[in-house]
Amino acid sequence: MTLLQAEEKVLTWPFARTEWGTPPPILAQLRQAPPCAVIIPAGAASERRAWLVTRYPDVRQALMDPRLSADELLPGAPVRIQVPQEERPSSFLRMDDPEHGRLRGMIASQFTARRVRQLVPAVQRRTDDLLDAFVAGPCPADLHDAFSRKLPTLVIASLLGVPDEDSAFFVEKTRVTLSQDDPEVSFAAYREMTDYLGQLAARKAKEPQDDLMSQLAVNNLAVGDITMDELVGIARLVLVAGHETTTNQIALNILSLLLDPGLRAQVLADDGRLLPEYIEEAMRYWSISQDGIVRLVTEDLVLGEVQMRAGDAVVISIPAANHDPTVFPEPNRIDVTRSPRDHLQWGNGPHYCQGAPLARLEMVIALRTLFARLPGLRLATDDVPSLFRRGTVFHGVENLPVAW
Ligand code: HEM
Repeated sequence: MTLLQAEEKVLTWPFARTEWGTPPPILAQLRQAPPCAVIIPAGAASERRAWLVTRYPDVRQALMDPRLSADELLPGAPVRIQVPQEERPSSFLRMDDPEHGRLRGMIASQFTARRVRQLVPAVQRRTDDLLDAFVAGPCPADLHDAFSRKLPTLVIASLLGVPDEDSAFFVEKTRVTLSQDDPEVSFAAYREMTDYLGQLAARKAKEPQDDLMSQLAVNNLAVGDITMDELVGIARLVLVAGHETTTNQIALNILSLLLDPGLRAQVLADDGRLLPEYIEEAMRYWSISQDGIVRLVTEDLVLGEVQMRAGDAVVISIPAANHDPTVFPEPNRIDVTRSPRDHLQWGNGPHYCQGAPLARLEMVIALRTLFARLPGLRLATDDVPSLFRRGTVFHGVENLPVAW
């Protein structure tokens, strides 16, 4: 069977989450069978069919298999996050090795566990400052706006060398770029962010400071290892990947604890000893990276018993794999005693999240400090479904009203 011959009633991807923000229930049904055909609706690119991969072993294999290309410049490559055609490739996230490895390697030293440990005092200081300002304000208030949205933004901005006062600008440009409601509006936001980072990189090349963009400008741009476009591509990837994901994950991690007093007591006992396990398990449960992972088949292969042909598009569902009951029994329950580190929310294979050590550090510090400081923290709304963002590339919340 080919993609075009696949069953008559083809579902349109992506699917809506539940009212309570958990992954689409239809994924449970689809996981019973091999990969199926879905329609990726038209956006900046035309409507097309793709194989949807949902079972845990198939998703793992798909993320690792070199016959599935991430390169968005290949003819027929599927797109989920639309960027203006002439500005591709947007970043090494959508390249294959050796190009991908060459650019990824240039920033690897900044994201090792050792380097990230050195950031503990800076992340702690940012956390304390934000919470000082928060408790000094009115109660109830929006914790997402004041804290979970700001912390990762400020951390990644200072690592890159983007001034704090510009963070509101790139948060807004990222939001509009990823909203994808109107490709022209998204493109305009993407271009503004690109222009801004280009100007900043030029300044760093002239007057380097102690930050990632200066390091790339001095060590790589100046000696001709990378072009200015590649440098801007790396900065934009780190900026977007570094705040949009972590922001939403921190908010959801807080929300799950506010909704379940038993879980909260268990996780926060002994000065939050179980926080690292809880964070991985909450990542599995919420699976925020909901529909961004697409690949192109470059060589015929069999995946999950399906014969896929070169030129076929593939959508890889991390939420489906993370809720596969054959690997995670009772997947719709947050259980900190399971082995949550098998989840695929950081990806797998060559594109495994480069920022995972940093994101883990931010999440542990944010949660430990918040709940130690505000032990009476509680939700200030009964309408939990209204908190969730809908139809975005990364799942998350719009706001998080709390009292303390
Ligand atoms: C909870 C927070 C985060 C989640 C859930 C997350 C998730 C992911 C996932 C699923 C991928 C793989 C995408 C693919 O295979 O197409 C990825 C890649 C990446 N992430 Fe993260 N991420 C998070 C935080 C961060 C942070 C803080 C940074 C900061 C630098 C970061 C930087 C990157 C980069 C550079 C890549 C591309 C890696 C490559 O293509 O080789 N991420 N992330």
